[in-house]
Amino acid sequence: MRNLTIVGAQFGDEGKGKIIDYLSSYFDIGVRFNGGENAGHTVVNSGKQVKFHLIPASFFGVKTLVLANGVVLNLEKLYSEIRELSTISKFPDLFISKLAHIVTPAHFKRDSLLEGVRGKSQIGTTLKGIGPAYESKYGRYGIRIIDLLQDDVYEKFNLLSQIYNIQISKEEIEKIIGIAREFSGNLIDTADFLLENIERGKKILFEAAQGTFIDIEFGTYPYVTSSHTISGGVTVGTGLPPKYIEKVMGVAKSYITRVGEGYFPTEIFGNEAEELRKLGWEYGATTGRPRRVGYFDIPMLRKSAKLNGFDYIALTKVDVLGKFKKIKVAISYEVNGSEVKEYDPLLKVDKVNYEEFKPWDDNPNNLEKFIDFIESEIKIPIPIVGNGEDRDKIIVREKIY
Ligand code: IMP
Repeated sequence: MRNLTIVGAQFGDEGKGKIIDYLSSYFDIGVRFNGGENAGHTVVNSGKQVKFHLIPASFFGVKTLVLANGVVLNLEKLYSEIRELSTISKFPDLFISKLAHIVTPAHFKRDSLLEGVRGKSQIGTTLKGIGPAYESKYGRYGIRIIDLLQDDVYEKFNLLSQIYNIQISKEEIEKIIGIAREFSGNLIDTADFLLENIERGKKILFEAAQGTFIDIEFGTYPYVTSSHTISGGVTVGTGLPPKYIEKVMGVAKSYITRVGEGYFPTEIFGNEAEELRKLGWEYGATTGRPRRVGYFDIPMLRKSAKLNGFDYIALTKVDVLGKFKKIKVAISYEVNGSEVKEYDPLLKVDKVNYEEFKPWDDNPNNLEKFIDFIESEIKIPIPIVGNGEDRDKIIVREKIY
């Protein structure tokens, strides 16, 4: 296997950062293909937390990083993240797609404005201008990095400003253009670059931001993000044909969390929820918001495995769940008097059927039973298990590299 795509199997925040970081040293190139600074991938290195928002979480292991065309970039944030990370470690070579769209202050304002208009039915976005940036892109009035280096760039800002009826000041525009000029030596055709590198035998790790059920197509619409978070997102998000995707790994947390609005069947509330939230420190890496929490959901993972074509599953935060007094796993739902074994964002679930497991804090055999049960239900191997914050807290059940 040369190329691997890692995606979130649930609603995001599954702990992809840790798994990507663990596997990164087996790859030459790390690629982000969707989303923007709404992502927050955390890696804990010798007790020190490093958060990646735009830079791929494969930072510590690969020699080359790529931000592909499917990503939307707040250039100011990118600049400051690079500066910050450069103080921690030698920065890998960074290449950015010429075609990547940018996020401007007008997109930030529009994000807040749209959430305000929605009122009670707001999405609960990260307010980082992500939805509006994709809206501009698909509306065909977006601005790509390459556009920032052309003479007619002011006309593009003007059009955006007119459509949104939001002022973008000359200073704001000049700042963005100034940063784009600094990145002009990093701009490439990422589709060509990746293809050439694959032909030269280089190994590529593609990492998705967010999770399967906040995918713009297959998530709990409209409570979703605006990009393709599933494995298929690699092809449109990089320009590489599907045959190069190869293997896909889904990262699933051993319980469910969600930030923002939108129903999920196994959600728990009250003191029980508070206990799990505190145990797992479930607060948004980008926004600091408390995450909603619930029990692990096999029907959800089953659907996720189908949408993404998982070859492997990495299970995370079992150390947290092992300390929880009540360990339950959803095995099916009751819907209109019938048993349903596969999640669908459109389902109205009447009741969730659970299986209970014994805590494993002082009995590792109970953890093996829990993992074996999930494996046998999903019929996909779980070679890697995250068992603690630090990067060496990994249980390798089967070596895949
Ligand atoms: P947006 O991506 O900021 O437009 O937010 C849309 C929805 O996706 C909201 O419910 C966010 O909380 C959620 N979301 C966006 N990025 C992430 C992430 O990295 N992890 C988890 N949820 C996210």
